[in-house]
Amino acid sequence: MLNFARGRSQPRSSRSMPMSGMEYPDPKKNNNFVGKVLMAATLTALCIVMLKQSPKFNAPSQFSQHEEGVTHVLVTGGAGYIGSHAALRLLKESYRVTIVDNLSRGNIGAVKALQELFPEPGQLQFIYADLGDAKAVNKIFSKNSFDAVMHFAAVAYVGESTLDPLKYYHNITSNTLVVLESMAAHGVRTLIYSSTCATYGEPEKMPITEETPQVPINPYGKAKKMAEDIILDFSKNSDMAVMILRYFNVIGSDPEGRLGEAPRPELREHGRISGACFDAARGIIPGLKVKGTDYKTNDGTCIRDYIDVTDLVDAHVKALQNAKPRKVGIYNVGTGRGRSVKEFVEACKKATGVEIKVEYQPRRPGDYAEVFSDPTKIRRELNWTAQFTDLQESLQIAWRWQKAHPDGYAAAS
Ligand SMILES: NC(=O)c1ccc[n+]([C@@H]2O[C@H](COP(=O)([O-])OP(=O)(O)OC[C@H]3O[C@@H](n4cnc5c(N)ncnc54)[C@H](O)[C@@H]3O)[C@@H](O)[C@H]2O)c1
Repeated sequence: MLNFARGRSQPRSSRSMPMSGMEYPDPKKNNNFVGKVLMAATLTALCIVMLKQSPKFNAPSQFSQHEEGVTHVLVTGGAGYIGSHAALRLLKESYRVTIVDNLSRGNIGAVKALQELFPEPGQLQFIYADLGDAKAVNKIFSKNSFDAVMHFAAVAYVGESTLDPLKYYHNITSNTLVVLESMAAHGVRTLIYSSTCATYGEPEKMPITEETPQVPINPYGKAKKMAEDIILDFSKNSDMAVMILRYFNVIGSDPEGRLGEAPRPELREHGRISGACFDAARGIIPGLKVKGTDYKTNDGTCIRDYIDVTDLVDAHVKALQNAKPRKVGIYNVGTGRGRSVKEFVEACKKATGVEIKVEYQPRRPGDYAEVFSDPTKIRRELNWTAQFTDLQESLQIAWRWQKAHPDGYAAAS
């Protein structure tokens, strides 16, 4: 190796000689400089030649070409709660995964956790991009060879959607269109779409089957229903394999404690019940506010169907494995059992061991009294049933992660 440091450490006076107030260049220094530039150029050229000769230099990235026996899945929103758990499961099963996320709501810490678990080249890549940027999305599709897309990325709070509906139509409906257009343009033929029971609105009859009319009552549900309609219309004249999964209320986290749910603190007020329970148990908020005690339910509080995230991602893998060209599958993903908010709070108290303070308040606009699924179709067609149906156990697992990560993923980011 050549030692450039010696030249640099020469005393300043020896580089140029001031004469009669004028600076004359020192010819020796000039020679030195030209020599250094030449040497640097030679070394750079040498490096390029050596790199080019290395077998990896010209090899295209593993993400850019299809490989027999390897299914490459684009996971949009993979830095988020459900998307990161889905990516973990896919990686564990040797799928190749590309996460695209704009980190508006997700956590780079979740991506880092996945990268640490799956560091081998060709397993996982993360691309920071906004799905609203059609040009960027198109570029991602042209540089990568995806076999399937799991489209999780979305803003996903009912309350927020009533305050800022345009954000929801833009982020959910028009971004789904962008993803679909890129899939069509680049011949990606399998789509697993994250939909929601909010597309059903407030049906009279329980449980909700896939035939229950969809009459959403808030912008979140409406935006998701519109996205579903776009996908369904497109699928009529294409050979795309489509699976639409309508999730009920998702709770829990990875039983091995590698990932968790860590929404942005500023979204707490819109947040979901499990997050609020944990925040109350940790003393971040003074207690729980249960909104509505006069619903026509057994104990007067709302009834929901809580599905563990581990079961949910299992449904995604089964949907992917059973997706068929020119076929559309629409499935409810729930346990089939409704639990009241009061039941949930009791389970949360036991799971955390904290006597959480509960304040009962009037109903929140946009909330439905009772929602639970009929999961017969997914059981029959995809051989899927919820396994993690013990509310307290799911909450205990999630609580363990919360306690181990009091600042969410902050330490990792
Ligand atoms: N959590 C639930 O209970 C629930 C229930 C039904 C349906 N869903 C659906 O599941 C999906 C995932 O929800 P989640 O709970 O994991 O939410 P999340 O907020 O944790 O994750 C969503 C991810 O999408 C990313 N994202 C948002 N807009 C983006 C954009 N324009 N470009 C790129 N990335 C973007 C966010 O940064 C985040 O990482 C959503 O489609 C949601 O509607 C969730």
